[in-house]
Amino acid sequence: MSIKTATLNGVATIEIARPEKKNALTGAMYRAMADALDAATADPAVRAVLITGQPGIFTSGNDIEDFARRKPGTDSPALLLMRALMACDKPVVAAVTGAAIGIGTTMLLHCDFVYVSDEARLAMPFVGLGLVPEFASSLIVPQLMGNARAAEKLLLGDPFTGADAVECGIANAVLPAGEVVNHARRIAERFNALAPGAVRETKTLMRRARAELAKETIAVESEVFARRLSSPEAQEAFSAFFQKRKPDFSKF
Ligand code: COA
Repeated sequence: MSIKTATLNGVATIEIARPEKKNALTGAMYRAMADALDAATADPAVRAVLITGQPGIFTSGNDIEDFARRKPGTDSPALLLMRALMACDKPVVAAVTGAAIGIGTTMLLHCDFVYVSDEARLAMPFVGLGLVPEFASSLIVPQLMGNARAAEKLLLGDPFTGADAVECGIANAVLPAGEVVNHARRIAERFNALAPGAVRETKTLMRRARAELAKETIAVESEVFARRLSSPEAQEAFSAFFQKRKPDFSKF
């Protein structure tokens, strides 16, 4: 199974493990992650959740083959994961072990603590795929870092380092690659000593002001995203990815 789960010492760990495809996320993987998050939210023995990847790769984002195959109008399997992540009222800690692309970066916007390996690169290259940002990133990214820096990341799709992610408010700290998971786990384990009810209510309060607007934004983004998936621009970008060439948008 390409999603591994384990609960140890109050921490539910969700590990993305499909290294042969750079941890690209399929529908089944989104479902498994959503189920694991829902189970962690419901389990009183779990005080915090840790999401991690493999050495050198957190996730290369949505499986592009799945994108290319998705029928117009069908629900995005990624929405299941994002709904579960947004509904989780326990602290979620991400250990970004390597590249975090597309939804790999988007999901970090919905985690509470983000620790990034010094070898990691983050990117939201939706425009380069003929797509648009999703899961409230079009709202949260400009809010976090201002329009100027958001435009570099969302309109140009420029990759950025862990240090940039810290500077922009996406991440807490950059750590040597070999230490990032242990550090993230230690942060998650600190919640064993804290009052769980107060933690949950504080997290909910911290997100309250943005929650409705985020839901509304996700609904609008999802509609545009679904329409764009079958656009000629996106089809060209998907073909280019599989043919290992640069997309040619000159004809649009
Ligand atoms: N979906 C499907 N397959 C993917 C994938 C994705 N998102 N990312 C990587 N893969 C596959 C590659 O097609 C390749 O498969 P193959 O061995 O059958 O040819 C394999 O994983 C290894 O990828 P490769 O590109 O050779 O690895 P790399 O180390 O040179 O680069 C990345 C790693 C993550 C930088 C690069 O794979 C990449 O940019 N992936 C796409 C990211 C993306 O655009 N995601 C969608 C965002 S919305």
